[in-house]
Amino acid sequence: MKVGIAGCGQLSRMLALAGWPMGMQFSFLADPNEPVRCVEGLGEIVRQDGTMTARDIYGALGNPDVITIERESVCVPLLIQLKSFCQVYPDPDIVWTIQNRHREKTLVSSLGIPLSPWAVFREQESVNKAIASIGGLPVVIKSTEDGYDGHNQWVIDSDEQLQAFEKERDAQLADATYKGIHEWIVEKKIAFEREISVIGARSPDGNIVIYTPGQNTHSNGILIHSVIPAPGLPDSLHAKARDYVSRLLQDTEYVGVLAVECFVTGDELLVNELAPRVHNSGHWTMDGAATSQFENHMRAIAGLPLGDSAHCGDVMGMYNLLGQKQSDDSQAPDHLMTQRTFLHWYNKTSRPGRKLGHLNILAEREEELLGAFAQIKRQFG
Ligand SMILES: Nc1ncnc2c1ncn2[C@@H]1O[C@H](COP(=O)(O)OP(=O)(O)O)[C@@H](O)[C@H]1O
Ligand SMILES: [Mg+2]
Repeated sequence: MKVGIAGCGQLSRMLALAGWPMGMQFSFLADPNEPVRCVEGLGEIVRQDGTMTARDIYGALGNPDVITIERESVCVPLLIQLKSFCQVYPDPDIVWTIQNRHREKTLVSSLGIPLSPWAVFREQESVNKAIASIGGLPVVIKSTEDGYDGHNQWVIDSDEQLQAFEKERDAQLADATYKGIHEWIVEKKIAFEREISVIGARSPDGNIVIYTPGQNTHSNGILIHSVIPAPGLPDSLHAKARDYVSRLLQDTEYVGVLAVECFVTGDELLVNELAPRVHNSGHWTMDGAATSQFENHMRAIAGLPLGDSAHCGDVMGMYNLLGQKQSDDSQAPDHLMTQRTFLHWYNKTSRPGRKLGHLNILAEREEELLGAFAQIKRQFG
């Protein structure tokens, strides 16, 4: 089976590393300026130059049997054209929906799944009216497109912060050359107790597997670590999380891995956002589940039986290794490995805040895991 993947980052790398033992062959589609170090040595790398047709791209990728994606910011019209040559999973339609927070929230709401109250406003429309319609401050404003790791987001707690946002927006829109954001979502800021995520996979024949929900800790919008299972999460919320992901998978006839990020407030579970791909909060499955999210994504898109998603061991942790400084050096920090700590290093150049790798940690108790996190923080940052 030949698989083409749009994108050349760490998610493509881990997808390919999961597919190789199953006899799959890979090729990767890179954007004009995209770094490709993560996937070097794992298959042909095809760089788009803006002149290639879908047929050219399909041929350059080696006529794959199926094409998939590692990120949501892909060119959907190209994916639609590629569908005339081979299977494309997940379907470009659902990628298009999730690419835009307005469309994404409309889908989630239409299934009766709860979200933070939200409203949408465009460039000429009043921010105040949108905020008033969801009950006033505090709110979080997000661009409907091109947001990731906390980019293009504004947390607004006060009138002063709102004025600063409006000033920034007016200045951008007054610039005739501005090609950035023209539509925003405003959401009620949720005083959540914690954030969890739930990851599921669906195969073309409709089978579904769901992973144990984990608890995620972010800093400046970037995931720092996950603890699995989410400590002390009541059974009722486990059931809700499973229900949300399975309804989304079924309703959209999704094929592949889908991640759902949620806020926990009391006995309610609100969906924050979806990702139509393997997800950072699921990296623990490489060492802590019978089948990793990467293998299950490959199985799903290849039409193979999905693997068991049960988590092994008592407590599992994932700690992201973020770059500290600018450097072309990508030395794996193998001194962080222990008998029960597993290193996954992506072979990237280092930049402050860039995800360079992660550690998966097996523990017997939550305190032991938190101790391991503290030690990694001291040793790596
Ligand atoms: N409505 C909200 N209320 C409170 N915190 C929020 C809200 N929306 C986002 N956040 C915080 O910001 C983080 C990033 O927001 P998210 O919508 O997940 O965007 P990204 O695409 O950058 O991951 C979330 O994980 C959460 O910690
Ligand atoms: Mg997020």
